[in-house]
Amino acid sequence: MLLDVQDLKVSFHSRDGVNEAVKGISFQLDEGKTLAIVGESGSGKSVTSMALTKLLPPEPQCRVSGKASLDGENLLDLSASEMRAVRGKQIAYIFQEPSTSLNPYYTVGNQIAEAIKFHRKEVSDVWAEVVKLLDQVGIRDPEKRAVDYPHQMSGGMKQRVMIAIALACQPRILVADEPTTALDVTIEAQIINLLKDLRARLNMSIILITHNFGIVDEFADDIAVMFRGEIVEAGPAESVLSNPQHPYTQALINCIPKMGTKQKRLPVVDYAELEK
Ligand SMILES: Nc1ncnc2c1ncn2[C@@H]1O[C@H](COP(=O)(O)OP(=O)(O)OP(=O)(O)O)[C@@H](O)[C@H]1O
Ligand SMILES: [Mg+2]
Repeated sequence: MLLDVQDLKVSFHSRDGVNEAVKGISFQLDEGKTLAIVGESGSGKSVTSMALTKLLPPEPQCRVSGKASLDGENLLDLSASEMRAVRGKQIAYIFQEPSTSLNPYYTVGNQIAEAIKFHRKEVSDVWAEVVKLLDQVGIRDPEKRAVDYPHQMSGGMKQRVMIAIALACQPRILVADEPTTALDVTIEAQIINLLKDLRARLNMSIILITHNFGIVDEFADDIAVMFRGEIVEAGPAESVLSNPQHPYTQALINCIPKMGTKQKRLPVVDYAELEK
């Protein structure tokens, strides 16, 4: 087992009180596998993934407890400088909105080169590696596009560049946090296919975070459903999708648009019913 998370808790503390964003969750991720964390907005998906590499605010604002063992080493015990080596090299992220993650003043090639220089000092021809990575994420004319600035690229291309930056570090785990919500559906499908292809070629493990069950199908090996800071249902993707047990999971699955059918209004989750 590559990653073993046990009883992870995250709470935010302010003058207004305590927000228990993650309430003691456990999950595992094997080498080369994809775990989808699915749940509505605010359920704690991003906070869970960011807690793994200390991307959250420091104490006393934010408290994290539990265990997150990567190859047997508890990531939550690492110092800030030890963590910098893990972030990127072991666990890399792609976030929802590529425009805000790319620096508008540098070419995309330069930004990929920075990641290579920081994490893989052994690479001698950095630019050749930049071009190779752009090619690998499906950007045509990679030599030419490498000197583009972010504003010269479409949203889908920027997301491919973000994936190239993540891959530049050769991470063991790629966390894709809502990687396609800012994109239209055809581009979304292309990005998901790209991630599938990269997973197969590079034997990467992926944590895919989404509130869309539609893109989980066929891509995830396992699914964990989060609801208000807890995992309410988890298991192999086929069984969760074909036989959801929790009413919240059932409601989410009913939201998946089906081809050829007219979209109904999203069903309203009856929270009072769930809390009984
Ligand atoms: N930096 C922060 N400071 C204080 N509270 C935070 C912070 N980040 C997240 N939270 C709170 O933690 C809870 C979980 O947020 P999180 O971002 O993990 O939700 P999410 O499941 O990723 O939602 P979405 O689908 O909208 O991205 C929310 O109540 C949120 O307000
Ligand atoms: Mg989020």
